[in-house]
Amino acid sequence: MPKISMKGQSMPESPIRKLVPYAEAAKSRGVEVIHLNIGQPDIKTPKVAMDAVRNNTLEILEYSRSEGSQEYREKLANYYGKCGINVTAQQIIATTGGSEALMFAIGSIADTTDEIIIPEPFYANYNGFAKASGVNVVPVVSSFEDNFALPPIEEFEKLITPKTKGILICNPGNPTGYLYTKEEIKKLATLVKKHDLFLIADEVYREFAYDNIEHYSILQEPGIEDHAIVVDSVSKRYSMCGARIGCLVSKNSEFIQTALKFAQARLSPPTLALIASEAALDTPQSYFDQVISEYVERRNLLIEALKTIEGVKVATPQGAFYCIVQLPVSNTEDFARWLLEDFQLDGQTVMVAPAAGFYASQGIGYDQVRIAYVLDKKELLRAAELLKEALKQYNG
Ligand SMILES: Cc1ncc(COP(=O)(O)O)c(C=O)c1O
Repeated sequence: MPKISMKGQSMPESPIRKLVPYAEAAKSRGVEVIHLNIGQPDIKTPKVAMDAVRNNTLEILEYSRSEGSQEYREKLANYYGKCGINVTAQQIIATTGGSEALMFAIGSIADTTDEIIIPEPFYANYNGFAKASGVNVVPVVSSFEDNFALPPIEEFEKLITPKTKGILICNPGNPTGYLYTKEEIKKLATLVKKHDLFLIADEVYREFAYDNIEHYSILQEPGIEDHAIVVDSVSKRYSMCGARIGCLVSKNSEFIQTALKFAQARLSPPTLALIASEAALDTPQSYFDQVISEYVERRNLLIEALKTIEGVKVATPQGAFYCIVQLPVSNTEDFARWLLEDFQLDGQTVMVAPAAGFYASQGIGYDQVRIAYVLDKKELLRAAELLKEALKQYNG
């Protein structure tokens, strides 16, 4: 039998998908599972994007340019301009999802055994992307009590070694929903300048900023032009997760030239999806206004409902569409499995994502779950009711 690589063997399983077989088994027993575990929005994709695919007259579905067409990148630069981010088409590379942008970014800045510091809990696939590049994730813990605000800058500084190549943040955060303040970005900017590091910001949830707080991008921060790399995506912005289009944005031309070589090796992002993504840039502001007010209502309603459950605490999110919830159980992995295997109320149960998988440090997050509020309000309320009853039974 030929041998699988050590790298392959050590690739982490997605903590979000790990419980899927249990959910499938519950469904085959006739139990309806309300999914609070994944970030697939139920929001409709803008009509302009779908129409562009429906009405296109292409006769050959040919390769696109490795970095995406000039027109698309110019329109993207225009979009960034409206967000207060001043970039040109040459500073953008279209990718196959934010996922590929993350892979290219890590591959372009770090060698095998190099280190990237990431505040935890973080988007679990960062582990997989780092592992695939042979790069080590060094976590710095952010705290539930502070709603997962930026940890003190000294905590980052303690972890910097000659192998440290960069800091990766997610803003607004998945799984925390935390929205970094301008002051926090400034602190990080000072740090990366001092130690000559890259600062990667995953801003795929940029539009999802609530409570009248404006998102502040690292590309708006003066003085870190050579350090700042933004990872972006159409997946959440336009509810186009299946399009698989994202991009990398940086004013560091050496970085862009390097990432372009990775882009050339995989030839091009998907052509039809690029057409949809370019058209999506014409989405009217009214679409976003509606979507954002829907998410704010969902967040408020969910948090209120969760707070009424004995022993449950929620870290208040101000962005994205996730929250970390502390439950009165010692191991949320066991509890999440029990919800799927042994619990039901009138034929329904809920699926949550145990939060330990979002931490790189061992032994943290075992009493936490991540909840995604991407369902309609009625379902969210029902899910909270189910959780309340389940906890009563589990702890009773
Ligand atoms: C924080 C974060 N970054 C990146 C991605 C990947 O996005 P894409 O669908 O563009 O690959 C996701 C997807 O859920 C995400 O939550």
